[in-house]
Amino acid sequence: MILKKITLTNFRNYKMETLELGSGIHFIIGSNGEGKTNFLESIYVLALAKSYKTSDQVLIKHQAEFAKIEATVFENNRLYDLSMIITEDGKNALVNKVQQKRLSDYIGKLKIVSFLPEDMNLIKGSPRDRRYFFDVYLGQMNRNYLNDLSKYKYVLKQRNELLKKMSKSAHPDELLLDVITSQLANAALPIIESRKQFIEQVNHFLKNRYSMFSSKNEPFEIKYLPSVEEPVETFFKSKYKSDIFSNTTNYGPHRDDYEFFLNDVLAKNYASQGEQRTMILTLDMAMAEMMKQMHNENPVILLDDVFSELDYDKQNKLIQYLHTMQAQSIITTTSIHEISNNVLKEALVYRVTNGAIKEEKHNG
Ligand SMILES: Nc1ncnc2c1ncn2[C@@H]1O[C@H](COP(=O)(O)OP(=O)(O)OP(=O)(O)O)[C@@H](O)[C@H]1O
Ligand SMILES: [Mg+2]
Repeated sequence: MILKKITLTNFRNYKMETLELGSGIHFIIGSNGEGKTNFLESIYVLALAKSYKTSDQVLIKHQAEFAKIEATVFENNRLYDLSMIITEDGKNALVNKVQQKRLSDYIGKLKIVSFLPEDMNLIKGSPRDRRYFFDVYLGQMNRNYLNDLSKYKYVLKQRNELLKKMSKSAHPDELLLDVITSQLANAALPIIESRKQFIEQVNHFLKNRYSMFSSKNEPFEIKYLPSVEEPVETFFKSKYKSDIFSNTTNYGPHRDDYEFFLNDVLAKNYASQGEQRTMILTLDMAMAEMMKQMHNENPVILLDDVFSELDYDKQNKLIQYLHTMQAQSIITTTSIHEISNNVLKEALVYRVTNGAIKEEKHNG
């Protein structure tokens, strides 16, 4: 999958910029605050219909009324146009100029894998960070997943409203709670099953991969921790008391978690900064390989500021890896001094200055 051309209108600090891209490695260089992350974020938003950072409105350039991201994508020998328009009132996704009814059907049209500074929270941060991370990839790879998730959220909201009412009533009616709990269990099952299968596959791809960016070949594994036990409905019912007491559903996929193990110990407690970064990078590349195997096309790989934290050897391993994978990759960095001329010769290099992007020639 290749982004051939992208046009940003009123997106963050970009007024109107069009960029033609190649099929290999791209470097976006610029000083702090010039718009490197914003550029990657625009591709992220085009792919996933929302930012990882913020609410939609913040994406609109100051004083503008809308933001627009348009791109021509090449996939399976076909060209098609994607656009995302963000206004004060909401957003619209279009494929070949046709408005998409449901964003959950749109997501996955442009497949991406991203390495973001925010991802450094993945291992030691909150369960929400980890659920979000895996949902992003599950959502892109599994057509039904996002629909399952929105059905679940809908029932969950209803159940929480009922629990609120029940906690205020002197004689709460458990009959209605039974009905909605059974609906919740039905909605939870496909999500739990998808997550379980997904992590099994991820682990398969992670086997022996940690050494890709590390001199040690330590086993790296992820464990899925569903918050409910099976049978799910019975489990939900055994928690009525605490749910009514706290006016909320305390168990279910919205409380699931994942644990990361490096060398058979819990990374959350032991892994160093550098080890965490290596794990996340390894995981991202596993995602890319999974996508490639499933869809026969590489995703677009976005790497924000990954180099500033990697030593020379790891930088080269990463570049080498991207090169062999032949995926379109877009890498932001404040400086390319440390990148070898051999790599630069084959890459496209762009410089961002205050929301304007210009290609630079590097002949090695
Ligand atoms: N909605 C917006 N409208 C106008 N400008 C914005 C908007 N949102 C962010 N900016 C500006 O964009 C700039 C930040 O851009 P960005 O985060 O892409 O920088 P960067 O090149 O990645 O820098 P760094 O090297 O520090 O990561 C800031 O100056 C910020 O004020
Ligand atoms: Mg940045």
